Amino acid sequence: MKYLIGIDIGTSGTKTVLFDQFGGIVASSIFGYELIQPKNGWAEQDPLQWWKATVLGIKDVLNQSKINPQDIAGIGLSGQMHGLVMLDSSKNLLRNSIIWCDGRSDLQAKKIAEKCGNKIIEITANPAMPAFTAAKLLWVKDNEPDIYKQCAHILLPKDYIRFKLTGVLATEVSDASGMQLLDVPKRTWSGELCEILGIDTKILPEVYESSYISGYVNAQAAEETGLCKGTPVAGGAGDQAASAVGNGIIDKGRVSDTLGSSGVVFAHTQEPLIDKLGRVHTFCHAVEGQWHVMGVTQGAGLSLKWFKDNFYQTEAKQAADKKLNIYDIIMDQVQKLKIGADNLIFLPYLMGERTPHLDTNARGVFFGISAIHTKAHFARAVIEGITYSQRDCLNILIDMGIEPEYIVAGGGGAKSPYWRKMLADNFKCDVYTLQQDAGGCLGAAILSGIGTGLYKDVKTACENILKLENKTTPDMAASQIYDQYYKIYKALYDDLKYRFKILSEVG
Ligand code: XUL
Repeated sequence: MKYLIGIDIGTSGTKTVLFDQFGGIVASSIFGYELIQPKNGWAEQDPLQWWKATVLGIKDVLNQSKINPQDIAGIGLSGQMHGLVMLDSSKNLLRNSIIWCDGRSDLQAKKIAEKCGNKIIEITANPAMPAFTAAKLLWVKDNEPDIYKQCAHILLPKDYIRFKLTGVLATEVSDASGMQLLDVPKRTWSGELCEILGIDTKILPEVYESSYISGYVNAQAAEETGLCKGTPVAGGAGDQAASAVGNGIIDKGRVSDTLGSSGVVFAHTQEPLIDKLGRVHTFCHAVEGQWHVMGVTQGAGLSLKWFKDNFYQTEAKQAADKKLNIYDIIMDQVQKLKIGADNLIFLPYLMGERTPHLDTNARGVFFGISAIHTKAHFARAVIEGITYSQRDCLNILIDMGIEPEYIVAGGGGAKSPYWRKMLADNFKCDVYTLQQDAGGCLGAAILSGIGTGLYKDVKTACENILKLENKTTPDMAASQIYDQYYKIYKALYDDLKYRFKILSEVG
């Protein structure tokens, strides 16, 4: 028997999963780390914490499974996208990574838009975005020139882990699309764009297709992790494209909804399909010669985790003592309440927003608070608000001509049958999950299986490995009630847009 490892460098932690060659989960492990928020709307992480969590995860799955590491055919990497990792000429870290949900580079995104004009959409298939890596890099150039001067290499989060595992500086097309320096239609770095932005192309890593074997585990990483020296490491993919492969979103009409720290509605496309209003992202897919579009809610699981961490501390401690999951407890309370949480609505814009409102100044809102409301009402409103935001994302994809047959739900949020019902009622579409609930890790492992020749191609691998389950059909009576709240939810952003801006200028 051969095995594959998928590693997903997430925002709340790194998940490592060991699969057998048929895609069965043999062992799984997760190690968390902190989100550093130096200022309102800023978000950083220490890449060495990602590496520490990766080492612990690999050791843990090897230890749980007791397999011979020589039987590991390949490793695939998946990870949070857009984060900026900066290295000096000795390949040492220059600063913490400025990660995807950090909103500090609004001004730099505006400058990119001014300097590049129409070329930004023509080349990168997306409007200039503060969330993307180029704007973050230019923020460092403008605000930390001493650090910028020393920068010899930039990497994305999962590619830093590749560097630690193999010593190779490389990325692949799906994640590179989110740097805003890639020619997305041509699937290669854009020298022209780098020149306009004054970015030296020498700092960019090699870019490959996602299943390409980019390097091999080196002696030092083998010693630290227990892996064999020489184990192949595939390109892998940004977490969304990797999850899409792991969810079988590799053909026309396939759409997924991944409820992780971010919430992403993702559709496969045969060519780069661009939303003229720039509300969704158009990136290279991890499948060679294919692309995808996705709408992103910045604060999906992130909002629920924030609420849980701040308002369910006692319950979380009690749950941990009884070996229960605090999110299951919250969900139990939430489903006892009426749709609409007795007229309490939440806008999940804790870290600004991308879809449908590209606005780093937007912030979270509870609207309609009354003396009737309990903590559970607030939790319900948070979950409903995240769902409405995902509904916004899906509506845009439908406007662009995507026709979902059904939606595959994944990520932590999709583990809850009640949340899946809420999705089906709001999407008015059947929702499924996959038997192997391992999203990004499975997708990354499949890509490494292709690179190492274990699988013929993505389509064959997905057909053989993935099995849909847990069909949830929409309940039209519930849908009609959600519709009324969704209408108010949608209007609230327009009502508050100006106030968000004013608020961001105070203090
Ligand atoms: C996608 C995005 C997030 C992060 C974290 O554009 O920013 O999904 O990858 O999951």
